[in-house]
Amino acid sequence: MVNATAGLIGVVLLTRHGDRTEYFQNTSNYISQQAYLTPLGAQQEYELGSFLRSTYLDADSPSFIQNISTEVANIDQLTVRADAGGGNAILDSAYSLLQGLYPPTQKSEITLGNGEKVLSPLGGYQYIPGKLKLQPESLFLQSLEYWQAPSLTPWMECNYFLFHLNRVYTSSGFKNISAAAQPFLTALEPYLGGISNNFTNMWNIYDHVNVQYTHNKTYYDTLPATFLEQARHYANWLQQQVFTDATTAQNGVGYIAIRTLLPEVMWSLGNMTLPSNKVKIAVQEVDYKPFISLFNVTNATLYDPDISGIANYASVVALELSLDSTGSHHVSMKFKNGTDNSEFRQLKLFGNTTVTLESFIHQLAWTTINSTINWCFSCNQTIERGCSVFNYTNDPFLNPTG
Ligand SMILES: *[C@@H]1O[C@H](CO)[C@@H](O)[C@H](O)[C@H]1NC(C)=O
Ligand SMILES: *[C@@H]1O[C@H](CO)[C@@H](O)[C@H](O)[C@H]1NC(C)=O
Ligand SMILES: *[C@@H]1O[C@H](CO)[C@@H](O)[C@H](O)[C@H]1NC(C)=O
Ligand SMILES: *[C@@H]1O[C@H](CO)[C@@H](O)[C@H](O)[C@H]1NC(C)=O
Ligand SMILES: *[C@@H]1O[C@H](CO)[C@@H](O)[C@H](O)[C@H]1NC(C)=O
Ligand SMILES: *[C@@H]1O[C@H](CO)[C@@H](O)[C@H](O)[C@H]1NC(C)=O
Ligand SMILES: *[C@@H]1O[C@H](CO)[C@@H](O)[C@H](O)[C@H]1NC(C)=O
Ligand SMILES: *[C@@H]1O[C@H](CO)[C@@H](O)[C@H](O)[C@H]1NC(C)=O
Ligand SMILES: *[C@@H]1O[C@H](CO)[C@@H](O)[C@H](O)[C@H]1NC(C)=O
Ligand SMILES: *[C@@H]1O[C@H](CO)[C@@H](O)[C@H](O)[C@H]1NC(C)=O
Ligand SMILES: *[C@@H]1O[C@H](CO)[C@@H](O)[C@H](O)[C@H]1NC(C)=O
Ligand SMILES: *[C@@H]1O[C@H](CO)[C@@H](O)[C@H](O)[C@H]1NC(C)=O
Repeated sequence: MVNATAGLIGVVLLTRHGDRTEYFQNTSNYISQQAYLTPLGAQQEYELGSFLRSTYLDADSPSFIQNISTEVANIDQLTVRADAGGGNAILDSAYSLLQGLYPPTQKSEITLGNGEKVLSPLGGYQYIPGKLKLQPESLFLQSLEYWQAPSLTPWMECNYFLFHLNRVYTSSGFKNISAAAQPFLTALEPYLGGISNNFTNMWNIYDHVNVQYTHNKTYYDTLPATFLEQARHYANWLQQQVFTDATTAQNGVGYIAIRTLLPEVMWSLGNMTLPSNKVKIAVQEVDYKPFISLFNVTNATLYDPDISGIANYASVVALELSLDSTGSHHVSMKFKNGTDNSEFRQLKLFGNTTVTLESFIHQLAWTTINSTINWCFSCNQTIERGCSVFNYTNDPFLNPTG
């Protein structure tokens, strides 16, 4: 066991957005529509922020992060990125989370040159989102618009991902489960508002049922018991197939949702070990997809099989970095499955409660996609999303003999 005498020095968080409006994803390519955060979703993210505050910013907590500013946010200690794939719901979720992490405080009052004291509105609201960025500056082409940069929505316009989807839809597992689900999907049809009840559409089916059940009283009062849970069960199964990969190992395209995020995770953790480092909390606000891929590539699902489904709204995965008495850095992974789940559960990384940072990076290095050209190669994309500027002579897939 690790003796983390020096305690936590930082944490990288992947957080899922909160409750939002209905969100259609095209079943043939997973290109999605915009969705908007609801007041319920904002509340969930705020609660998540408060939870993270009591976990990491409270000096009495065993997970207190050394030297972190506890009341008045020090923006040098935070980095926040939001995935643009889910539209405003994800960006606004990051704002709500930060409101809970660093709530308004009188202590943020400043004194002007003329001696006048000023507090920001809403009782000292802290405007941390000044550091929010939609586009990952350290990663990929800076000249691209956020929707073009593949880092945060890497499954879109990825040709190999389309093959992968098709492979999932034609697999025997898919055929078996869709046959088993048929009676349920037939019974569910009157509650689908006209959307297809084909099993390929299972994500959208669940989303429709969940959104209506949450926001529509007539629907809530009439949906038969267990229908929501059954829809969730099948959607969990399908999303697990889509965002993992049965055919290849860690570098399968099915894992693409986490493969482009891992470099930023590793760089954040690596930078936290440097004496010059200031950042103590790095937040990436994302969709449900990277959670599924991450739990699979780290083998966490081998030890906790129940985490293989979709993470609930306002879920969090924490990669905690600690320093032991011998001066080596360790990483440990925790997960909380949304607002209703009070447990911040310790997960295993490759079967271990903690692994050295070196080992963490080593085990996952070969799955990472750390540049636009790597993404283009990994997706067999030579035109869209900035790929047209590269030279593919050395691409082993496009030119097997090159
Ligand atoms: C899904 O995407 C395909 C391919 O771009 C397109 O042909 C189809 O119309 C889209 N489906 C819906 C429901 O938008
Ligand atoms: C915390 O601050 C103390 C005093 O400035 C310093 O000695 C220590 O190295 C700092 N620890 C971390 C993890 O930054
Ligand atoms: C379900 O959708 C798939 C893909 O669009 C299609 O091949 C299949 O025929 C559909 N099944 C039914 C029963 O409509
Ligand atoms: C609410 O649910 C009812 C019953 O399913 C449906 O007829 C109605 O269109 C829904 N309202 C909205 C705003 O979606
Ligand atoms: C990862 O996902 C693949 C494909 O769904 C599955 O075969 C494999 O068992 C999963 N691995 C773990 C550790 O859960
Ligand atoms: C620090 O982050 C930068 C990118 O922001 C990365 O290039 C560098 O490798 C990181 N350093 C370490 C030690 O991980
Ligand atoms: C989160 O909990 C829901 C039930 O509320 C479950 O369906 C889902 O599989 C869980 N997800 C994970 C990643 O544990
Ligand atoms: C992950 O689990 C697979 C079995 O699904 C096993 O073959 C592999 O060795 C494990 N990897 C690590 C690093 O523990
Ligand atoms: C996990 O722990 C085992 C011993 O319990 C060790 O052999 C293995 O190398 C560790 N894996 C990693 C990735 O640190
Ligand atoms: C990116 O990944 C490649 C291997 O695919 C590696 O050679 C390179 O050093 C990595 N670059 C960074 C900045 O991590
Ligand atoms: C990659 O895309 C090219 C067209 O740009 C196509 O000719 C080639 O067959 C594709 N490779 C694979 C392995 O699908
Ligand atoms: C593309 O790369 C190959 C191999 O490195 C090189 O021979 C060729 O000149 C390059 N083409 C262009 C247009 O830069």
